[in-house]
Amino acid sequence: MYLSAPDAAALLREGRVVAIPTETVYGLAASLEQPSAVAEIFALKGRPANNPLIIHLASRDQINPFVDGLPEDFEALAQAFWPGPMTLVLDVKVDAIPEKVRAGLATAAFRVPQHPVAREVLQLSGPLVMPSANLSGRPSATMAKHVVEDFGADFPVVDGGACQRGLESTILIRQRGRWTIIRQGALSPEAFELVLGYLPAIQSANTKTPLCPGQLYRHYAPKAHLHLVKDMSDARGVLIGYDERHYPAGCRVLSLGSLKHPEQVAESLYKTLRQLDEESVSEAYVDMDIPSDGLWKTIFERLAKAAQS
Ligand code: TXA
Ligand code: MG
Repeated sequence: MYLSAPDAAALLREGRVVAIPTETVYGLAASLEQPSAVAEIFALKGRPANNPLIIHLASRDQINPFVDGLPEDFEALAQAFWPGPMTLVLDVKVDAIPEKVRAGLATAAFRVPQHPVAREVLQLSGPLVMPSANLSGRPSATMAKHVVEDFGADFPVVDGGACQRGLESTILIRQRGRWTIIRQGALSPEAFELVLGYLPAIQSANTKTPLCPGQLYRHYAPKAHLHLVKDMSDARGVLIGYDERHYPAGCRVLSLGSLKHPEQVAESLYKTLRQLDEESVSEAYVDMDIPSDGLWKTIFERLAKAAQS
């Protein structure tokens, strides 16, 4: 069921869950002040209770009542990247944020999104928690129709078209005097170097105790079995590749875009993974001979996770 932004905000204030677009991916939104709606989000997604939610705000100033002091370079980061696809994990006043949202931690994650629909809704609704609007483990939704695929045609969603970034926000936490990336995302490490004066380290998603609990879980995966290969000469059937490349004859090529434009590849990534499911493809070859700088790092990581079974 498609809604306008003001209608979505009204439902949110009443304690309903609705999906709205952000510049990264579609989010499944609930009001921070509606405990039953927050609980419904965990149930709808099949999300483990120990995986906390991101609090979304209309502006940087709304963060003040929640936080217990602000770390060095917070203002510089907020100034540079909000509104936008950056999430910061901060120490909070635990009484100001429901325990479920924090998954019992003494920190919470915050983001000020940039998408005009998300901004309009947030201005009318107040702070919202918003995980990506997909069933846990499925590729995130980057179009309204993906939300319908996962939650059904009756589910309330605001259609804001295709998400321009196509990858989730980059999440950072400050530890031992430096900012560290705990989930790679739509902003590359290099983007933060300009503001921080150093390249933030990326905490490996493979550690047993990740700083970002969501990294523990299977993610982004289509039903198809993905073969990640650097040499596509033995590929057959369906393959995922790039505009400039030539692939074996007889293959059906789903192109992610141009190797010159990683932002275009990011935008089409989840849509293409979901397309495999729509077409009931059971296996596909993925061309992993890609650069390793900037956004390509995130793209590589998402494809690697999508291929895990
Ligand atoms: O781009 C995005 O960030 C999207 C859009 C809708 O804003 N949201 C999103 O939410 O990706 P979700 O729930 O799919 O991912 C949130 C991630 C999870 O991996 C969770 O573990 C982590 O943020 N997270 C939340 N609170 C945290 C905290 N206090 N400490 C560490 N990680 C946290
Ligand atoms: Mg997610």
